[in-house]
Amino acid sequence: MRRKLAAGNWKMNGLGANLAELSALLAAQPDPACEMLICPPATLIHRAAAQAQGSTLRIGAQDCHAATSGAHTGDLSAEMLRDAGATHVITGHSERRADHGESDAIVRAKTEAAIAAGLTAILCLGESLGDRQAGRTLDVIRAQLAGSLPDQAGGATLVVAYEPIWAIGTGQVATLDQIGEVHAFLRAELVARYGETGNAIRLLYGGSVKHANAAEIFAVKDVDGALVGGASLTAADFAPIVAAL
Ligand code: G3P
Repeated sequence: MRRKLAAGNWKMNGLGANLAELSALLAAQPDPACEMLICPPATLIHRAAAQAQGSTLRIGAQDCHAATSGAHTGDLSAEMLRDAGATHVITGHSERRADHGESDAIVRAKTEAAIAAGLTAILCLGESLGDRQAGRTLDVIRAQLAGSLPDQAGGATLVVAYEPIWAIGTGQVATLDQIGEVHAFLRAELVARYGETGNAIRLLYGGSVKHANAAEIFAVKDVDGALVGGASLTAADFAPIVAAL
């Protein structure tokens, strides 16, 4: 049985004052059977984790370096993030792949570093609009999986998030058929790669998830939750998504 997960990615948004949203989220009394995660900017992880301590809310990071320490000015290792209170880290988000030139090999190294440090990695992948229009979606995703999946993975240490690039921040959510097709494909590939463990790895959908469309997306087979951007910034928007899990 896979535990449902609603993960919020605040991206480069949020100052100290925005941490009040976490208290509001907890006040909405989320179902403890589901997992709720917020990934604020790194500057807020320590404070957010202190605030969430003892609650069902988990705090994650949005990126980590593949190395454990060393001369990498401005970067943060997975161990540092864990030390600050993070339990999860997003790897391979399309904005990192685009803005920082992260290849599948880099994403794989970061994912392995995250797992080695005791974090749960949320590995993101997804096709561009051009790929989808050219009918290449599953080929692109197969290649991303081949290049970025870690050697070792467990149901507790790896989550895979399908985020079609054209659906991120656009309000243009993928159709239920499109989501179902890719998630079924991901499940089959993960089982082929990891055996029975592949059935324990959770699959999230991300891309313009809102309260209005969350329940129908969560009802799609092999959708175990969502990775939410814009609608995770306030408790008013995110709590109803968590409640729809
Ligand atoms: O990581 C979440 C994300 O990329 C989706 O963003 O704003 O479309 O929910 P948004």
